[in-house]
Amino acid sequence: MTVHFIGAGPGAPDLLTLRGRDLIAASPVCLYAGSLVPEEILAHCPPGAKIVNTAPLDLDAIIAECRAAHDAGQDVARLHSGDLSVWSAMGEQIRRLRAEDIPVSVTPGVPSFAAAAAALGAELTLPGLVQSVVLTRTPGRASPMPGSESLANFAATGATLAIHLSIHTLDSVTEALIPAYGASCPVAIVYRATWPDQRILRGTLSDIAAQMTPEIDRTALILVGRALGNADFGESCLYSTDYDRRYRPQSARGEA
Ligand SMILES: C[S@@+](CC[C@H](N)C(=O)[O-])C[C@H]1O[C@@H](n2cnc3c(N)ncnc32)[C@H](O)[C@@H]1O
Repeated sequence: MTVHFIGAGPGAPDLLTLRGRDLIAASPVCLYAGSLVPEEILAHCPPGAKIVNTAPLDLDAIIAECRAAHDAGQDVARLHSGDLSVWSAMGEQIRRLRAEDIPVSVTPGVPSFAAAAAALGAELTLPGLVQSVVLTRTPGRASPMPGSESLANFAATGATLAIHLSIHTLDSVTEALIPAYGASCPVAIVYRATWPDQRILRGTLSDIAAQMTPEIDRTALILVGRALGNADFGESCLYSTDYDRRYRPQSARGEA
């Protein structure tokens, strides 16, 4: 018996991995994290599966569900939105399960920042312009930020920022970033990337807040940086003619 943690992706049901789908189909118990996991993904559960929305449960109750399945010898598909490596609360669940000698596995999912970048048709790292992406958030009621992880500190690097869980504080986000990035720095907000009601706003640090509408209140990403909408960047060496001739193994064999 294993508790399979599975990244359910950003929303579109066909952005689930085949491995994730097969594990769901083989698990008689499915625990899923609330409204961000679409119904269509739950349809992969086998007939008669026990399906539990864990949104109203606390950690003790979630572990109790896993323990009951373990005692019954039943695999559990544990679904979280996006990927499990960021803001999934997987860490604390795995720590408890390991303490009880309950086996776990982890299957990655498509993270929301990647879905948002795809919706924008944007590469977040552009040659000669920006080569790093920071996945971050601002503090929440239950989630203080370590002191060094301020937006101002990340902004000082010039990296592309993918700011999660922060759409409700857009004004203070732009205020914190303007000193380093400048008021004309491009910004995109992607609301519910890959869901049928996906929306995209594009602007700058100085005007994006004015474009906001009331329905964009949760489940949105704020992407900031010069890579967004900037056509003024170099070409990577990867596909350059020179690079091919000198380093591609088949060419090297031909020259030998
Ligand atoms: C609790 S975190 C979960 C992150 C998730 N594990 C991931 O891989 O993206 C929830 C935040 O992720 C972002 N998010 C999740 N799904 C999204 C989507 N489909 N479109 C835009 N942002 C999304 C929002 O910033 C939201 O507040």
